[in-house]
Amino acid sequence: MRHAVHPLTQQLIERKARGEKLAVLTAYDYPTARLLDEAGVDIILVGDSLGMVVLGLPDTTSVNMNTMLHHAAAVRRAVKRAPVVVDLPAHSYDTPEQALKNAERLVSAGADAVKLEGGRVVIEQVRAITQAGIGYIGHIGMLPQSVKLDGGYKKKGKMEADALCLLDDARALEDAGAAAIVLESIVSEVALRISQSVKIPTIGIGSGDGCDAQVLVTHDLIGAFPWFKPPFAKSRANVAQEITRATMEFVADVKRER
Ligand code: KIV
Repeated sequence: MRHAVHPLTQQLIERKARGEKLAVLTAYDYPTARLLDEAGVDIILVGDSLGMVVLGLPDTTSVNMNTMLHHAAAVRRAVKRAPVVVDLPAHSYDTPEQALKNAERLVSAGADAVKLEGGRVVIEQVRAITQAGIGYIGHIGMLPQSVKLDGGYKKKGKMEADALCLLDDARALEDAGAAAIVLESIVSEVALRISQSVKIPTIGIGSGDGCDAQVLVTHDLIGAFPWFKPPFAKSRANVAQEITRATMEFVADVKRER
């Protein structure tokens, strides 16, 4: 049975059809989310990358629902314009029932849509979410929640068989009602083929400029996490340096006052 197209899916299909490129950034707190929204970003993602860039965890695999709910609510309070998409963390969607229940919790915290990682292997979870009328964004290619199983962060789509698998995953997610699909660390030519074969926008990260949208972790964009910089992410500010400078100035001033 065909279900009604979610308004976010409809909106993003139309924007892609018009040839519009979309800029997507992550936010995890009120001030950042408000600044990004007011600066005109198209979609704000409360990504589970917050585990690494906010909580100092080695990867995203131990981020949980309570953490996502907490940050989703903060971002919701800030954002008036852009759609807010929130990640379902690892093991919060192991079954379709669990996926639906946790997607509903994120919507109650303020999400306009949820994102989860995987293609056809999670299609029942995706259907449970979309058939309940909840907005959903897919994520294929390199899947950070599976980094331990995968043995590290590896480029995807290098072999033709892998490329075909990614294409089939993308089409399956589109058929299941995805509003867009994140393509993470996929060989550029393959990301372009995927983008040309679906009507919904692809949101690339480390997958070349043939995608319909680009997403970055905001800490990488603004240079706020200097200890690790992904090679594809161009920093356009140096917030870390500014924090260090202001802090050192303050410390020196206070010490001089004695
Ligand atoms: O968690 C996240 O921030 C993400 C983006 C990198 C796409 O999933």
